[in-house]
Amino acid sequence: TAEQKRSDYDLMLHAARFYQHQLKHHANSKTVIDYIKGRGLSGETAKKFMIGYAPSEWEALCQQLGRNKEQKEQLVELKLASEKSPGRQFDFFRDRLMFPIRDKRGRVIAFGGRVMQADQGPKYLNSPETRIFHKGFELYGLYEAKQAHKKLEHILIVEGYMDVVALAEQGIEYAVAALGTATTAEHMHTLFRTTDKVICCYDGDRAGRDAAWRALENALPYLGDGKSLKFVFLPDGEDPDSLVQKEGKDAFEARLSEADDFTKVLFNKLSQEIDLTQDAGKAKLLSDALPLIEKIPSDFYQENILEHLGRLIGRTREQLNNRVKSPKQQHA
Ligand code: UTP
Ligand code: MN
Ligand code: MN
Ligand code: MN
Ligand code: MN
Repeated sequence: TAEQKRSDYDLMLHAARFYQHQLKHHANSKTVIDYIKGRGLSGETAKKFMIGYAPSEWEALCQQLGRNKEQKEQLVELKLASEKSPGRQFDFFRDRLMFPIRDKRGRVIAFGGRVMQADQGPKYLNSPETRIFHKGFELYGLYEAKQAHKKLEHILIVEGYMDVVALAEQGIEYAVAALGTATTAEHMHTLFRTTDKVICCYDGDRAGRDAAWRALENALPYLGDGKSLKFVFLPDGEDPDSLVQKEGKDAFEARLSEADDFTKVLFNKLSQEIDLTQDAGKAKLLSDALPLIEKIPSDFYQENILEHLGRLIGRTREQLNNRVKSPKQQHA
């Protein structure tokens, strides 16, 4: 007699559709649509990414999709609702622009929600982890990028939802974002299974530069022969969204074609605050670099980097040889 149980994915899809419907029909609609337009997005792009609006009311989604006890519990389990007290649920996302996060098969598994005006809590609120959403593994925009290309020649990693969407609006449909976390090793694994060339392009600020370094460290184990990892550093205060809107697709893609190879970024970072005219500095560079070099599976990259390292510290390739364990040896 009971209604057939609604699957988690089905519920998430209904929630996304509900938010999309609100974007068009809620009393706040004009404000929300003006906001989207003000950020340079077309209706077409909004639709492609299923962008929606979570209304300001406390129980809008709960009333629509939580018709009985089981459904209400499921909303809480999927973090679309919170429970004030047993049996009293309210919407998790309120008065926010909604970005559905889809897995690589296109199923909605979580949401990111942006405040419409300042001082309404954290700028972005993301779904907490659930049984269908594992943060460190999912990349916002990967499904959409795969839809746009038969084969992804390269993938651009950026920080935010708005970066992915604004780039797509300008015709750069191969950007993905990690979800409010650093780019993890699992993200890198996924990316290098999907493409040979990964370009990192984080915000032009301190946090962005730190994110680039963590991404580099996490990517090393996936740099096999034929893989490439590059970095674009943006001018201070810019992010891909602001910059692509300012200078357009061609100028932005020119930056990508001039991206720095990971080798350069690695040595720049390790040489910071080191005096390479002194033996102590050379020794420190050597001991910092070796554990990183050992993570790289490609012999070709290892050779290149060791050669470069040797030049910097005045050692021959042979002298460095017995200091390096190849990844194959490590796993033996
Ligand atoms: P940014 O602060 O760079 O935001 O955070 P943004 O994407 O440029 O946002 P706009 O342009 O002001 O809309 C980058 C990403 O970090 C996560 C989000 O995933 C965001 O897209 N983030 C940021 C959060 O999870 N919570 C926050 O409060 C802020
Ligand atoms: Mn998953
Ligand atoms: Mn940022
Ligand atoms: Mn940003
Ligand atoms: Mn931004």
